Amino acid sequence: PVLVVDFGAQYAQLIARRVREAQVYSEVVPHSTPVAELLERDPAAIVLSGGPSSVYEPGAPQVDPKLFEVGVPVFGICYGFQAMAGALGGTVEHTGTREYGRTELGVRHAGGLLHDELPDRHPVWMSHGDCVTAAPEGFTVTATSEGAPVAAFEDRERRFAGVQYHPEVGHSPHGQEVLRRFLHEIAGIRPQWTTSSIVDEQVARIREQVGNGKAICGLSGGVDSAVAAALVQRAIGDRLTCVFVDHGLLRAGERAQVERDYVAATGIRLVTVDARERFLDALKGVTDPEQKRKIIGREFIRVFEQAERDLKAEGDYEFLVQGTLYPDVVESGGGAGTANIKSHHNVGGLPDDLQFTLVEPLRALFKDEVRRVGTELGLPETIVQRQPFPGPGLGIRIIGEVTQERLDVLRKADAIAREELTSAGLDRQIWQCPVVLLADVRSVGVQGDGRTYGHPVVLRPVSSEDAMTADWTRLPYEVLERISTRITNEVAEVNRVVLDVTSKPPGTIEWE
Ligand code: XMP
Repeated sequence: PVLVVDFGAQYAQLIARRVREAQVYSEVVPHSTPVAELLERDPAAIVLSGGPSSVYEPGAPQVDPKLFEVGVPVFGICYGFQAMAGALGGTVEHTGTREYGRTELGVRHAGGLLHDELPDRHPVWMSHGDCVTAAPEGFTVTATSEGAPVAAFEDRERRFAGVQYHPEVGHSPHGQEVLRRFLHEIAGIRPQWTTSSIVDEQVARIREQVGNGKAICGLSGGVDSAVAAALVQRAIGDRLTCVFVDHGLLRAGERAQVERDYVAATGIRLVTVDARERFLDALKGVTDPEQKRKIIGREFIRVFEQAERDLKAEGDYEFLVQGTLYPDVVESGGGAGTANIKSHHNVGGLPDDLQFTLVEPLRALFKDEVRRVGTELGLPETIVQRQPFPGPGLGIRIIGEVTQERLDVLRKADAIAREELTSAGLDRQIWQCPVVLLADVRSVGVQGDGRTYGHPVVLRPVSSEDAMTADWTRLPYEVLERISTRITNEVAEVNRVVLDVTSKPPGTIEWE
């Protein structure tokens, strides 16, 4: 792999993703990893990421100069660029000129990293206080900027290169090209990380892990569990059984999408557990959001455990498939783990004492790769491009007690909003758009000649990168108008549609 050494920037994962976009497999490692350990991984190249420190600060993470003596290609970015310069005998100084944001890069020397077809002057994204004022011996300075006398350098013989700016961000429009040039031309790595190679490799691994064993997978209706299960099914066929719990808090058509479209595409063996009544009973009279979440989580576990017992009665299921993704692995310290499961965010938190060995075929993948794998496996677009939907479902989008009638009302309104957003071509622009029913609020309206006294629904369209923060999406008025008109016409109980214009923070995406 290409190892991206993380110097504490929020950019390391992004760099790893960009490397993979250049069809080269990459992983993030902490900067504390000793050189010997990096070498054990047999890296094709090493990328030193940016970071928040100044190379001068006491305790600032350093690069071990030994790294440059082992013949592995190295690419330094921002802080990594400066640390590399320092370690190789160049000069890094605090000149007092800071550059932050869009900056013009002047190419001095085209041919290697910055090839002839790039414009002589082009915008890049900078963020630095210190800068390299003299390149180490053997390096050619290939670009400068106003605040950085050495903004890019390379030593093609030793296969070292670096840039002061951030090539991984969208604000550096030629950044991907530069990264690609480093990987393919300077480091000489062949681009082999393709979607079909991912599928082949994972299928082989799953076969090796599971052997002749049997596996269970809980399907949530979301992308990750759907793709994980499809991969495992490709590997072990009918020895995988998927369990789909219908808790009655699903949106219109979701159960059919799983039961019909997903099964048609994969041929997967699916057990649906209809637990709608059970959940409704358990939620009777409950209005507190946290209590609702706890009840839904608890009931989910019980139903899943029952399904598990039923399956175990017909054969030994030793493995549990989970859709854990690479960002979760990195964030939880990157430890390799096939222990008992802790929690399953997608399906509402399974308990610790479920005794299974985990199969996690997406552990190395980013979300966009998971979607591509899904497409490669022939899954329908409706599943692969699905927006996030919370495990507790519509239960946390009815403000007030959850009842069958209210669920039906919300399902209708939600289906209309989704239909209109899709037909306006907005699905890729929004992160998600919860529709929330204010079930205990009523307002007076007029329709035809009559007075109405109905409920409001709230549209909550948001734009986000990762759901940690979000902004409300400025939907076109015409689309809002169509949604509002249709909902108030077609859903008798709703006589008002309101728009949530709160960002996150302070508001969360969901209302409960
Ligand atoms: P909030 O409301 O916290 O939501 O801003 C952030 C993102 O997480 C989703 N969400 C959940 N997903 N189980 C899930 O699988 C949950 O319990 C849950 N609660 C919120 C929400 O839809 C948004 O994308």
